[in-house]
Amino acid sequence: MSPIESVADVLALYARYGEDTYGEDVTQNAHALQCAAIAEADGASDALIVAALLHDIGHLVHLDETGAVADAHEVDDEHEATGARALARVFGPEVTGPIALHVTAKRYRCATEPGYADGLSPASALSLAIQGGPLDADACEAFAAHPAAAEAIRLRGFDDWGKLADVEVPGWDHYRPMMERLAR
Ligand SMILES: [Fe+2]
Repeated sequence: MSPIESVADVLALYARYGEDTYGEDVTQNAHALQCAAIAEADGASDALIVAALLHDIGHLVHLDETGAVADAHEVDDEHEATGARALARVFGPEVTGPIALHVTAKRYRCATEPGYADGLSPASALSLAIQGGPLDADACEAFAAHPAAAEAIRLRGFDDWGKLADVEVPGWDHYRPMMERLAR
């Protein structure tokens, strides 16, 4: 697929690959839409709702480019960086910043919040090791100083919850106007 240059391109990617499994008994579509619904219910800004919706788009880009999903237990596909880069022509840093940092936010929360790691889903706990494990003290300091850190930490919470089977949430049409407003 050619580079993502519009909201229509984003939607096309999810239309094509969104029914692929996220790996935790939910599809990519279900995970994306649940995360966005949780963000909206939590009073997140439109930018953070869209970040929650699209935070794992890097997995779909990877799938489109290579024809395969990287096994998160074997290799770190760096989907957060891939996703933020792929969206940079369409959205500004208020959307791409939390996406780029959502894995680091997991590593930060594991290092700084007692009990947080215990609440991770099994797949997320497994991928943690391959992603580098909890951040060390210097890396925590660097992460916390990033302008998108607070929103990335919130996004991480939505990500952890948005893995439920069979819940009714709004569909892609609900978010299209929001995405169009935020698009460059
Ligand atoms: Fe996710």
